[in-house]
Amino acid sequence: MRTVVKNIGQLVTPVNPKFAVKDEVKKLKIHEDVNLIIEDGIFVDITEKDVKGDNEIDACGKVVLPAFADPHTHIPFVGSREREFNERILGKSYMEIAKGGGGINSTVAAVRDATFDDLYNAAKKDLELLIKHGVGSVEMKSGYGLDLETEIKQLKVINKLKSEYLVDIKATFMGAHEIPLEYKDKKDAYIDKVINEMLPEVKRNDLAEYVDIFCEKDVFEIDDSRKILTAASKMGFKIRIHADEIYPLGGSILCAEFDAVSGEHLVKISDENILRLIDKGVVFNLLPATTFFLMSDEYAPARKILEKGGIVALSTDLNPGSSYTHNICLVMAIACLKMKMTMEEAINAVTINGAYSLGLSDKTGSIHIGKQADFLIFNAPDYKYLVYNFGVNRVEKVFKKGVEIYSHE
Ligand code: NIG
Ligand code: FE
Repeated sequence: MRTVVKNIGQLVTPVNPKFAVKDEVKKLKIHEDVNLIIEDGIFVDITEKDVKGDNEIDACGKVVLPAFADPHTHIPFVGSREREFNERILGKSYMEIAKGGGGINSTVAAVRDATFDDLYNAAKKDLELLIKHGVGSVEMKSGYGLDLETEIKQLKVINKLKSEYLVDIKATFMGAHEIPLEYKDKKDAYIDKVINEMLPEVKRNDLAEYVDIFCEKDVFEIDDSRKILTAASKMGFKIRIHADEIYPLGGSILCAEFDAVSGEHLVKISDENILRLIDKGVVFNLLPATTFFLMSDEYAPARKILEKGGIVALSTDLNPGSSYTHNICLVMAIACLKMKMTMEEAINAVTINGAYSLGLSDKTGSIHIGKQADFLIFNAPDYKYLVYNFGVNRVEKVFKKGVEIYSHE
């Protein structure tokens, strides 16, 4: 079946179909007044010619972009933590709230209590809100169970969504997201449980492709993290690491040591570790909405990373505590306004580089002939409105593999 998207004002795509760094990350390829031809869910042509299709979509002079990739969310979860939001406004820090019984462990209690169906229904809503904001590929993780049964429940929810949606979904096991309250003074015993009980069970049931870990002062410190990552690597998991988010522990060195796919947050990464990660081709997955929401003034050093040649992706970090937003365009705006990324760098970060970090850039993340027809129609005269009209969702339609998965009306 041939679909023709007619009357496109601007068709915007990353230049390089694999990933964008150095000069290429500063650029986008813009085709004006073109038609996009799709056959059997694959892009086959971009042309000024008037081509007939079995199905025709009028873009009405608007902008067409690749569907976005969000390579870091904490779906699935239940429960909300809006009370913490006020506590932070009144001066408490994220870590103080966590130590006082709020934080990750309060969501853990809610997720443990939830039935599979409750968790699944909440995750479905979150996924649909992401799609509504233009997301076509997404990473989801466990980490709100912190016991075998609940971690598996979360991963099964992710795998169920994966089998039901056209969206590309990647699953990550994050049993080392926090030390559960019942192991408060027995961290080593919890680490043993993650290594000897949880990781093998996740592997046996093939429930996750990646392992992530919260490498942070007073959570999993560098040596703790190294133990877990050694076991995960041996079992063949790919690695992503929450590192140097709050305290400059130096955990990002583990991204180089374990050939991680990506380092997450990296707000306090050192200059030496930036170079180490670049050398290993690790993706710098930056989450400025989290910094914004936690009301910190210190953002990840995006300019330094970009100028040295790092591969930069951006994500929502969607979770109920440190970043409760589904709006990846808002993340782009914060990246531009607070980390001084250009609009073109931000768009490359949420398209091709996000897809690359999910191992998907051979099939999505840009509008190149032969890739999956994963794209969106954006209701604006120019792609710069993505960031310029900050906080407003102008995504009108989202397509995955040529099929419309969201329409505004
Ligand atoms: O990426 N830093 C650790 N994990 C999440 C927060 C999760 C939560 O607060 O529930 C993050 O920011
Ligand atoms: Fe996170």
